[in-house]
Amino acid sequence: MSNENFIKNILCIGAGYVGGPTMAMIAAKCPRYKVTVVDVNAEKIKAWQADNLPIYEPGLLDVVKKARGRNLFFSTDTEAHIKSADIIFVSVNTPTKMYGAGAGKTADLQFWEKTARDILRVAESDKIIVEKSTLPVRTAEAMERILSSNGKGIRFDVVSNPEFLAEGTAISDLENPDRVLVGSKETERGRRARESIVEIYANWISRDRIITCDIWSAELSKLVANAFLAQRISSINSISALCEKTEADVKKVAHAIGMDSRIGLKFLNASIGFGGSCFRKDILNLVYICEYYGLHEVAEYWENVIKINEYQEGRFVQKMIHAMFNTIANKRIALFGFAFKANTGDTRESPAIYVTQKLAEERAHVVITDPKAIRNAEQDLKDIREYVEFETDPYKAAQGAHAVAILTEWDLFKTLDYKKIYENMEKPAFLFDGRNILDHRRIFDIGFNVYPIGKPPLMHF
Ligand code: NAD
Ligand code: UDX
Repeated sequence: MSNENFIKNILCIGAGYVGGPTMAMIAAKCPRYKVTVVDVNAEKIKAWQADNLPIYEPGLLDVVKKARGRNLFFSTDTEAHIKSADIIFVSVNTPTKMYGAGAGKTADLQFWEKTARDILRVAESDKIIVEKSTLPVRTAEAMERILSSNGKGIRFDVVSNPEFLAEGTAISDLENPDRVLVGSKETERGRRARESIVEIYANWISRDRIITCDIWSAELSKLVANAFLAQRISSINSISALCEKTEADVKKVAHAIGMDSRIGLKFLNASIGFGGSCFRKDILNLVYICEYYGLHEVAEYWENVIKINEYQEGRFVQKMIHAMFNTIANKRIALFGFAFKANTGDTRESPAIYVTQKLAEERAHVVITDPKAIRNAEQDLKDIREYVEFETDPYKAAQGAHAVAILTEWDLFKTLDYKKIYENMEKPAFLFDGRNILDHRRIFDIGFNVYPIGKPPLMHF
């Protein structure tokens, strides 16, 4: 199709976990839009152009292949594509700021502001700018101020369209989302810009699932959605500690409370703690905003969601060390899983990083196995490389080990031959199930000393 036959040019700046899959889905569902994704990272762009994609996400390659070369393109030429774009999605990273004012809490908006300035410098015509990245509430105001300083008579309309996909299920989340949220200024222009974004999604999502609202509510809803999800995990994790003391079973408690339709069953799996690039960062950001507005009690309330998460990670490692007679120096310990959740190779904020660091501090020999995350794990652990080994085969990882700890709930780890694993381990053999994915009674009967989350341990001595 020649350029003239496309009804609009969409550009996305940032070809990461959000930009790549989101734009691939838009292109696949909307053949009449030309979609280009740019990134400063040339290697990443090269990977998007080939079949060895830069991220692992089930089903993603099929969606990319459907549109790539037809109406989906990947490029490093940001300037040229800014010029020709009608709509620009900005999906750059917004990590926690690690320097200066707000360090360790607020979002680092340097990548975001750089894109605003690139757009300002290069643009020659009116454009709709879409906030796809997760941003502090009222960022659109700053964006509009920067963009309206152009002096070229160009009009920019800023729209907020936060992304709710979860990694590992990104394709089904994008294809069939619970909702899409589009916020804009409540002016005639603002509403018109908002409708242009709604029209894109309406190609495959029914309009009753596309929520429109003012821009501040849209920005804030994204932070609040992640805070509420993380809060559920911290709530059930806090109860898991109590279950271990009282012989209650956290899975049974979660089921019993979740059957109440007001509570619901989802997101009540007790674990070693939540990881991922979003929850911690977005809650810290929320906390910072509350503090900025003098809402100290509100800030403290949300900060506790993170504190419980840290407590849960710490508790898990302490339990391991304590169970193994308070000394793990030179003991081989196999970690099953390093990704922050199953079905992704992403290890950002993975609890496995913390667990490995703590075990290495105790001079254990840690062997890590994961179906997709070893490459990222190698990067994360480069400073403690002498204590760590990587092994693709879980059976080999566990060979001669004193303990196995399950840190990611990959299906693969549910179906391994644990009898065979047990036979090749040092005795007494320990299994710490940080995801509660195994049949603990069966594992105990094989001979393991079993330490689940939120249930008393099953010990042979
Ligand atoms: P990411 O790090 O995977 O991708 C961001 C990309 O932006 C990187 O490839 C980086 O090279 C690129 N980039 C940075 N500055 C650039 C510039 N000036 N020009 C061109 N490219 C530039 O991050 P991500 O996980 O995709 O997250 C992006 C945003 O989406 C964040 O705000 C995040 O909070 C939000 N979000 C993430 C998820 C998720 O599951 N990962 C879900 C919802 C929302
Ligand atoms: C999250 C939000 O779910 C998504 O809507 C948002 O767009 C980005 O942040 P993500 O971080 O990719 O998505 O994965 P998610 O499924 O939310 O899991 C986050 C962490 O919580 C993982 O470490 C996961 O293992 C953990 N988790 C999740 C639990 O420990 N228990 C649960 O019941 C659910």
